[in-house]
Amino acid sequence: PGAQAPRAASSADGSELITGIGELHTVDPARGEDSVLTDAAVVVEDGVVAWVGPAAEAPAADRAVDVEGRAALPGWVDSHTHLVFAGDRSAEFAARMAGQDYAAGGIGVTTRATRETDDETLRGLVAGRVADAVAGGTTYLETKTGYGLDVEQELRAARIAADAADEVTFLGAHLVPEGIDAEAYVDLVCGPMLDAVRPYVQWADVFCERGAFTPEQSRRVLEACRDAGLGLRVHGNQLGPGEGVALAVELGAASVDHCNFLSEEDVAALAASDTVATVLPACDLSTRAPLAPARELVDAGATVAIASNCNPGTSYTTAMNFCVATAVLQMRLTVEEAIRAATLGGAKALRRDVSTPGRPAVGHLAVGARADLHVLDAPSAMHLAYRPGMPLTWGVWRAGRREV
Ligand code: NIG
Repeated sequence: PGAQAPRAASSADGSELITGIGELHTVDPARGEDSVLTDAAVVVEDGVVAWVGPAAEAPAADRAVDVEGRAALPGWVDSHTHLVFAGDRSAEFAARMAGQDYAAGGIGVTTRATRETDDETLRGLVAGRVADAVAGGTTYLETKTGYGLDVEQELRAARIAADAADEVTFLGAHLVPEGIDAEAYVDLVCGPMLDAVRPYVQWADVFCERGAFTPEQSRRVLEACRDAGLGLRVHGNQLGPGEGVALAVELGAASVDHCNFLSEEDVAALAASDTVATVLPACDLSTRAPLAPARELVDAGATVAIASNCNPGTSYTTAMNFCVATAVLQMRLTVEEAIRAATLGGAKALRRDVSTPGRPAVGHLAVGARADLHVLDAPSAMHLAYRPGMPLTWGVWRAGRREV
């Protein structure tokens, strides 16, 4: 069968048995070292996992699908994207490939293009990107504002993001717009802009980096957003060593993302904290940056997430299969570690790894978790790295509904 053949979303009514799974990566923390099952099956009902175990012992269900020995894993949890944008920065990319360094200023180019795009067109662009992500096995997705950079445009971005993504992050502090004093802009972000977007967002983020926001400005933004009840995330240590990681850990941020330039102290601080280190392999390739030290972070005991960072400047892709392959081939994670980082790691970065009333956990497959399943057109998950770039996504169930 064609690996990428689109199919109509199936009904999520009743129970469905997905059987014949040759290799099932449950990523279930309760299973410890034994989280990979062979000859397995999963039953989904009411959007959640109702049963997981050996296919030979599976209970009956209203419907059944036999995946004929294919490997399956939880859907990807993409915990870092910037999908609300218009325009294209391929000229900037070409200049980078010719030797120029990435600089934050390109965010202004996308901000102009986004502001000039009407609501309906922008909504269509975002919906298309989400559909691409799902087609590639992503079942839970965060996205950010950050290409509006004034109150009206950040509010528009927050609304559009809230309609398209599972989690929304306010990134008014992405770049100081041209012609505005930085401190005055931080006042705007912490005051009227935060008030406007607050009903649509769960998270706040800041680009704590040279050319964007200083550690002091970043702290001001993060503290104001925390006081408004938002969870915190930080873009840190992307372009050089800096205080982003330390600030994120100190303020109890759920994640610090990029992490390309880490000191030994940064790694130790992350390992000793609940702050997830989110690495962005596609971004590192597209910016020709030193790869984030995912191997060292895992070895030190830090929780690592892998995300796509889809945006037009540094990582124009939602392809999580590619990110996972890169994490194995280039960052030296094992396939199991990379899968864990791109599922449970992302869920931890969004504080969605544990079920709460009415909100099933994501990022692993266990009874009660959301029925987010990614079936590969391959007998083992090793093929994600062994056959990089191949169309390996065969089936995707999102909250129990078949989408691919
Ligand atoms: O995560 N680093 C900051 N933000 C994006 C890049 C945004 C852009 O260049 O448009 C990132 O890489």
